[in-house]
Amino acid sequence: MKKRILSGMRPTGKLHLGHLAGTLDNWVKLQDEYECFFMVADWHALMSEYEVPSVLVESGLDNVIDWLSFGIDPKKATIFVQSEVSTHLDLYMILSCITPLGWLERCPTYKEQLREIKSRDLHTYGFLGYPVLQAADILIYKAQKVPVGEDQLPHLELTREIARRFNSLYKKEVFPDPEAILTKTSRLLGLDGRKMSKSYDNAINLSDSEEVIKKKIQTMFTDPKRVKLSDVGHPDTCNVYSYYLIYQPQAKEDVHDWCSKAKVGCTDCKRRLALGLWDKLAPFKAKRKELEQDKNQIKKILAEGREKALEATSKTMHEVKQAMGI
Ligand code: TRP
Ligand code: SF4
Repeated sequence: MKKRILSGMRPTGKLHLGHLAGTLDNWVKLQDEYECFFMVADWHALMSEYEVPSVLVESGLDNVIDWLSFGIDPKKATIFVQSEVSTHLDLYMILSCITPLGWLERCPTYKEQLREIKSRDLHTYGFLGYPVLQAADILIYKAQKVPVGEDQLPHLELTREIARRFNSLYKKEVFPDPEAILTKTSRLLGLDGRKMSKSYDNAINLSDSEEVIKKKIQTMFTDPKRVKLSDVGHPDTCNVYSYYLIYQPQAKEDVHDWCSKAKVGCTDCKRRLALGLWDKLAPFKAKRKELEQDKNQIKKILAEGREKALEATSKTMHEVKQAMGI
């Protein structure tokens, strides 16, 4: 029997190249080897975006279009929206009752986000319980593996502690210990050289058109020492060059040569990068177009996903209640 995986993405905006290199490519690989459940974590998004919840609806469907166009196959993986599978909240409620407040208050991601995120007020009851809902997501599938980035490891640790607490309180091994499959962090930086992120407005989105990609790439920061065409450049410190290494590694010697010997200018160098990147993305765009024009197809996939998710989770809920004697 295949081992089971559960993972999710919060629908807080459009997906970008960082999501592709970090998460999505990884999910696509995993769907052959594991029984995968991939979820639009809209309740989790609501915990931080509650002031403008419309973003959840807009991004949810759009993100799923990206998942499907970049290779998530609904015949292999179960794709669903968290808020449509109400059993997640049932288990979340039960786990809330057994999770000590101190575990949540001490969670490093909680403390960090309260300190760093100033654009929203996260001093809410819901936000404190964020990891409890994540634990419910994972445990309700009895997932053995959870692909996540390093930033999510504290949540996985909490999930294991909550699972053990449940099993020991009710003297039954209902939940297995889930393990992380660590997603390597993408080396790709944003257009301005900072981490690629929607909030910095420095990302190339998976849904961007050829024109937009060309324009965005022309705004990329380059080697500041190369001002005139005749100045030699230092590709190893140029962000444009690092994009070449990822998306057009076959051109790396050429770029190194033309940059360090001042043979080709930055504008031209970027134009060629944009062409190469577009070549990589173009094949996936056809699928995106098809799906955009047939939203019913996506709705059908999500409805089927919901059914499969409900079936799997209802079984666990039954066991949970039996163990508790309620
Ligand atoms: N918290 C995760 C993130 O921000 C999203 C998420 C919600 C998740 N539930 C999950 C990830 C369950 C893995 C498993 O990326
Ligand atoms: Fe960067 Fe290319 Fe300009 Fe060199 S030529 S500094 S690699 S953009």
